[in-house]
Amino acid sequence: MDWGMSNRMAQLIQPNGRTMFLPIDHGYFQGPTRNLEQPGKTAEPLLPYADALFVTRGVLRSSIDPANTKPIVLRVSGGTSMVGHDLADEGITTSMEEAIRLNASAVGLSLFIGTEYEKQSLLNLGKLVNEGEKYGIPVMAVTAVGRELEQRESRYLALCCRIAAELGARVVKTYWCADGFDKVVDGCPVPVIMAGGPQADTEREVLEFVHDGMQNGAIGINLGRNIWQSDHPVPMIRALRHIVHHNGTVDDAQEIFDTVKAGDGRVPAAAV
Ligand code: 5RP
Repeated sequence: MDWGMSNRMAQLIQPNGRTMFLPIDHGYFQGPTRNLEQPGKTAEPLLPYADALFVTRGVLRSSIDPANTKPIVLRVSGGTSMVGHDLADEGITTSMEEAIRLNASAVGLSLFIGTEYEKQSLLNLGKLVNEGEKYGIPVMAVTAVGRELEQRESRYLALCCRIAAELGARVVKTYWCADGFDKVVDGCPVPVIMAGGPQADTEREVLEFVHDGMQNGAIGINLGRNIWQSDHPVPMIRALRHIVHHNGTVDDAQEIFDTVKAGDGRVPAAAV
């Protein structure tokens, strides 16, 4: 791997091999999603506990302080909306030159495998990888499931992750699934990061699936709504950090959540 590529990967994946991306890119097709109406304000208290920020160029320029942020994973696909004809009909919206200008550590795009736009999104990935490899910028592929959340089963996710890696993604973001997540990870020769999906009913449910995913080979998370749509975003991200970076148990993470939420200063040092 060339020095630039290695250096960018090292900015994203921490020395312990783990990572926590904070995604605030949802507005690129969802508009002003709940609790992300002012993305800069949402991100600010959470950034100290994240390893990287997943964001579009528009929100990056308008809302994120260049002097006080984390490595950037730039969302570069789009062209669709919640009210349009098909979320899968994405193109590449942002050039590699722009990613370099913004000092991005990686670029990310969505794949829509199994849809009418499968080929288009896979060719988008191929083109992005061609450009990214030229300049030493890793590509993160996001295996999107659109509105069909029931597609979160291991055979489908394994297929998507493997194809993304075969086409040159350096990192793949996918959904956790209850059965066979280890097979999803095992079949993917590049690191796998878990996405979150819509807000779960309880915080503990999120801690449990993240813990299970980490035990089954994921290197980290890219969780948005289950953090910043929580009633307690900072306790939530700190509890998750304990699982991701410190091999914490669900009970320990729950304790951190409760302690930080209560405003008690006695949070174990390992949990920061
Ligand atoms: C949305 C994305 C998000 O980055 C991804 O879905 C993670 O966010 P969440 O945990 O809210 O699902 O790719 O376009």
